Amino acid sequence: MFGWFKSKKPPESTEKATQKVESFLDPSAVLEKFTAITGIHFKKKESITTSKLIHFCRNHHLYSFDELYSRLQSDSAILEALINVLTVNETYFFRESRQIYFFVEKVSRNKEKVRILCAPGSTGEEPYSIAMALLEGGIPAQRIEIISLDINSDVVALAREGRYNARSLHKTASSVQEKYFIKEDKIFTISDDVKRLVSFYTLNIFDDHLFEMGKFDIIFSRNMLIYFDESTVIRAVERLGRLARSKDTYLFFGHADFVKTPPTLLERYEEGIKFYTIR
Ligand SMILES: C[S@@+](CC[C@H](N)C(=O)[O-])C[C@H]1O[C@@H](n2cnc3c(N)ncnc32)[C@H](O)[C@@H]1O
Repeated sequence: MFGWFKSKKPPESTEKATQKVESFLDPSAVLEKFTAITGIHFKKKESITTSKLIHFCRNHHLYSFDELYSRLQSDSAILEALINVLTVNETYFFRESRQIYFFVEKVSRNKEKVRILCAPGSTGEEPYSIAMALLEGGIPAQRIEIISLDINSDVVALAREGRYNARSLHKTASSVQEKYFIKEDKIFTISDDVKRLVSFYTLNIFDDHLFEMGKFDIIFSRNMLIYFDESTVIRAVERLGRLARSKDTYLFFGHADFVKTPPTLLERYEEGIKFYTIR
């Protein structure tokens, strides 16, 4: 009769045999795969990235980088979760705003509809800043269409919510805060009038769905290329350039995004503002 109790608890030796042991050795295969998919490299930050990877594996019950690597081959949810952990999404409203005011002035000179791409848009501060600047410049809402995309699905969800803390608004004039945000308990929610001007998508710029977005009159791609190596910057810029409606399309990049102008672009200056057009 005691045999039943004995069989419920495995003998000690069997218990040990089924315990998995962590072994985090070389992350390079995982990182190379991640770079091949996203363009993002970790050359200067390998040790901090390795710590993040170990933490990620523990959260997902993965015991080695080899195990993570094989899950990445077939499990798109793991890839998405890893992208959401390893991307840097720092942004704020009216960042590098001189470029924004410069193009608003150009847009205000004619009466046509304007399609603007913001790639990447992170948590939404940049595309919403563009929308607010256009409204402040007297451009009617019916003329404005802004598409924002980002590879990180968590930041896209936050962008759609449009709720921010004061830190995100440190460069936002108080008159703009009052006009376009609803403030409640230290949270600033973007108004529906601004929200409806921007559509948000989760998309990797190296995914060919990019070319289903249509053509754009103005393309912003700021502070993403800094995470890519030189050949990837050239590839990314060539792909974004294919979305330009014409040779009059303005392309704006961040100050540190590249040192050498990629071959598909022409560097231009007006009123002290650097922008690019396609060749
Ligand atoms: C530092 S934020 C810049 C946000 C905003 N443009 C700005 O300048 O404030 C960089 C963003 O690029 C996104 N990103 C990185 N690689 C990407 C890729 N291959 N496709 C689309 N977005 C990407 C990241 O998820 C991150 O949100």
